[in-house]
Amino acid sequence: MCGIVGYCGARRASEILLEGLRRLEYRGYDSAGLCVPEDRRLRIFKKCGRIRDLRRIVPDTLTATSGIGHTRWATHGEVTDENAHPHADCGGDLAVVHNGIIENYSVLKAKLESEGHSFRSTTDSEVIAHLISSFYDGDLERAVKDATPLLKGTYGIVCIHRAEPGRLVGARNGSPLVLGVGDGEVFLASDVTAVLAHTKQVVYLEDGEIVSVSADEYRTTDPSDRPVEKKIEHIGWELEEIEKGGFPTFMEKEIFEQPRSIERALRGRLDRTNATAHLGGLNLSGKQLLDIERVKIVATGTSYHAGLVGTYLLESISRIPCTAELSSEVRYRNPIVERNTLYFVLSQSGETADTLYALRELKRKVATVLGICNVVGSTIARESDGGVYIHSGPEIAVASTKAFTSQLSVLYLFSLLMGRMRHLSFEQGAEVLERLEETPELVAKALDQHAHIRSLARKYSGARDFLFLGRGVNYPVALEGALKLKEISYIHAEGYSAAEIKHGPIALINETTPSMFLVPNDRLRDKIISNMKEVKARQGKVIAVVADGDEEIGEIADDVITVPNTHRLMYPFLMVVPLQLFSYYCARELGRNVDQPRNLAKSVTVE
Ligand code: F6R
Repeated sequence: MCGIVGYCGARRASEILLEGLRRLEYRGYDSAGLCVPEDRRLRIFKKCGRIRDLRRIVPDTLTATSGIGHTRWATHGEVTDENAHPHADCGGDLAVVHNGIIENYSVLKAKLESEGHSFRSTTDSEVIAHLISSFYDGDLERAVKDATPLLKGTYGIVCIHRAEPGRLVGARNGSPLVLGVGDGEVFLASDVTAVLAHTKQVVYLEDGEIVSVSADEYRTTDPSDRPVEKKIEHIGWELEEIEKGGFPTFMEKEIFEQPRSIERALRGRLDRTNATAHLGGLNLSGKQLLDIERVKIVATGTSYHAGLVGTYLLESISRIPCTAELSSEVRYRNPIVERNTLYFVLSQSGETADTLYALRELKRKVATVLGICNVVGSTIARESDGGVYIHSGPEIAVASTKAFTSQLSVLYLFSLLMGRMRHLSFEQGAEVLERLEETPELVAKALDQHAHIRSLARKYSGARDFLFLGRGVNYPVALEGALKLKEISYIHAEGYSAAEIKHGPIALINETTPSMFLVPNDRLRDKIISNMKEVKARQGKVIAVVADGDEEIGEIADDVITVPNTHRLMYPFLMVVPLQLFSYYCARELGRNVDQPRNLAKSVTVE
């Protein structure tokens, strides 16, 4: 969501902050601002719009070597210059940037107003600046320690005071904050992408911790004010991975990266000697794995769709009952945790609030919860009992693509591991391994259809409504196709089981509402053809995604996209690719901002 960056060092802070904000822009992007201490006062620059708009109002003459910056994705208060961060106290002596939501801000605001504070913005965040300022007595770190226990809600904050220009103080509770440790300089950020250009040495703050930072040292304390010795961790990502690398958008780059990102998810995990998978981080013994009687997957958005595919994989390959549920629903329905049940929380970012709170509720009930995350060191990864990284590399575009296929890869590996412990023979396990090994190549072949898919996007991008229809293991892929199309092109789209349309959605069909059918070469093919004919009989236009060599569909559908012929459980890897490309090209046709679609943010850290 919003992005934070802070810097203490010897270089010009304003440049480093602007560059860090540009890297964070993918998280939130309706306004931005920065603050640097200059000539014994704080200079604050804030602007609605993009980072380039902020850059225009920041003078080149600033020389400060410390400062804080923020990109905003509005939650409380409209998108205005005044509501952008940093927020200052009444005298402009102290400034703060904040990610998260302060739930008791109106109570705090009323109290502070009664004490004479006056507010400039309509945000919840401004209250933090006034609150810390009300405790300030020459020591910013102390004031933050006194103020933060009064805040209810979630926060990642960094603040600076005019009287202590070379110091930043950060605190976290529910919103990520990471320290980047350089040579004679220290960074504070909500996301490692903001510091990767400068250092790969990072320290992750835990909830309740407070850090005081200067150019050459940092000091962390826990909620009881005891010093905490923090471990420095190494970020495995390369700088090129957070650049576009010749592609016009991050989304296009990430779609085309999938053969490689799937390979990375599989690397070192295929155990050919034993015809099984090797997943190091599960933290469960063979005996504990054998005792598992059911698996429950908890996630949101695209990760939830991957989880739904996972239910088919686990049930088919391991014969273990498996369900997937939306995190937000799990969290608030007092979930019943049964014995011998394994929970997976799936999250690309590892920071999604709905999923994190579901994880915490499950852990309160002593469930065993494993994480499947992309971002190493993310909150969900750290709070899970164990888990598996998908190793997709940074996913910058708001719309998730490569994380989906990598999540499928890991779920497939887990299904194989569990299947081999139960009923799969060596030969059957070896077959599953073989299928996994050929996936990157098959996905590359599916990508080869891009020019044809682009021409279809030209033809259909004028539609106002779209249906995506699949069955079995491809039903969640239909849901994912609809999500992709609506979120980046703003064309209204619904995903359904193809069997379900006759129970209602068929009422929407006419010559202006096209349907995208997923037709794998499997036992459901003929059923899907019947569903397709039902749509054709009502003048609906049909695009069919079919297996190579399936000539018959061409006679029914208006347009056809082919993917390689494969095993029935592998189709989701291949079927999702044309759907991603189709949404992408439709959005480009319509002139949308593909990487940063309206109203959306990467990593949704509020409920
Ligand atoms: C869709 C999309 C979102 C995310 C969802 C979960 O393209 O990006 O629906 O999938 O917010 O995010 P993670 O996986 O980070 O928990």
